[in-house]
Amino acid sequence: MSKPRLNIGIVGYGFMGRTHSNAFRQVSKFFDVPYEPVLKAICARNRARAESFQQNWGYDSVETDWKSLIERKDIDVIDIASPNDTHAEIAIAAARAGKAVLSEKPLGRNATESQAIVEAAEKAGVPNMVWYNYRRVPAVSLAKDLVNEGKLGRVFHYRAKFLQDWTISSDLPQGGEGLWRLDARVAGSGVTGDLLAHCIDTAMWLNGPVDSVAAVTETFIKERKHNLTGKIEPVGIDDASAFLARFRNGSLGTFEATRYARGHKALYTLEMNGADASIIWDLSDLHRLQYFDHGDKGTLRGWRSIHITDGDHPYMKHWWVPGLQIGYEHTFIHQAADFLSGMAGGIVPAPTFRDALATDYVTDAVLAAAKNRDWQKVAGA
Ligand SMILES: NC(=O)c1ccc[n+]([C@@H]2O[C@H](COP(=O)([O-])OP(=O)(O)OC[C@H]3O[C@@H](n4cnc5c(N)ncnc54)[C@H](O)[C@@H]3O)[C@@H](O)[C@H]2O)c1
Repeated sequence: MSKPRLNIGIVGYGFMGRTHSNAFRQVSKFFDVPYEPVLKAICARNRARAESFQQNWGYDSVETDWKSLIERKDIDVIDIASPNDTHAEIAIAAARAGKAVLSEKPLGRNATESQAIVEAAEKAGVPNMVWYNYRRVPAVSLAKDLVNEGKLGRVFHYRAKFLQDWTISSDLPQGGEGLWRLDARVAGSGVTGDLLAHCIDTAMWLNGPVDSVAAVTETFIKERKHNLTGKIEPVGIDDASAFLARFRNGSLGTFEATRYARGHKALYTLEMNGADASIIWDLSDLHRLQYFDHGDKGTLRGWRSIHITDGDHPYMKHWWVPGLQIGYEHTFIHQAADFLSGMAGGIVPAPTFRDALATDYVTDAVLAAAKNRDWQKVAGA
């Protein structure tokens, strides 16, 4: 029997437009999902480029205005893969139109925007989810299982960093295609909302809410040419951000993100130290989880490097045979699978808009703590 179809309309054909298109194209080939997702419409402002994207990915149609996309009766899900300044307006309008809404992270440019999005989605009662995809790296999902099983015991430390090096040149302009991340009006913030948001989402998923933070941020290059105005303009984003955190469970956290760590392209690492065990995960080796269990026999005690490719590891039974690993794009396929299954069961899979708002409360607190040079209580914590 054929499955009910779920028509997807994606806004944005950039980096994330490709990962989401790939996810919805692949998901039902590998997962027994209750819906057949259909790539119904791709929406972007440049028609010629949108049509080329449509052909490549097999979309049914093209829209050049997201408002027209939302007005369409044949679209069930609006999936926002456009820059941060577009999320609130599109998500709120889509929710009011009764669509299921998926959004890229961060949900809003700040928690105030995110609050409005959460209110609209919850008032409309529509399914909603944010693509914090690192939760669905099988090794990170296994870490969550280990935490849930109590393997770590009392947690003392959580450590995360996300390091890049692509903005070191002062010749790099800000704004416009590909460089909107350097424009605070579009991005909301710099590495705090872009990179640390990922670290914070995973951290709170694994280790619970963050209660308070102390932070430093720096903008190393104070002025850059703006691609849209052609003028040299002040840079409003944080180039680097580091913070200390107190978690509600009593553990301490250290977090760092920068785009000035020469040699690092996307080094996201996390570590948790508990009384009984520790875990380490590293995006550049994403199919491995390092695990140290103090309960092991003394002579054999040491760090295990677990290759997350067995059928009983999270998500892995859907892929190849034990020993063969998967990669970055699969995290989006996993999230699409969980979304489709959740839709059918009436349970919105996490992270929901409300979960993402909790992350934005932390990023807002980090920026305020850096500005005020003081500890900051996290709103809602
Ligand atoms: N989950 C992740 O790991 C991850 C990774 C990268 C980016 N992101 C997030 O995804 C979003 C998009 O980032 P990206 O790297 O794909 O950006 P990108 O610059 O590669 O692509 C953005 C796309 O949005 C389109 N766009 C911009 N304004 C639009 C509008 N008003 N209407 C329709 N289309 C519009 C652009 O034409 C482009 O196709 C951001 O919110 C970003 O923070 C998440």
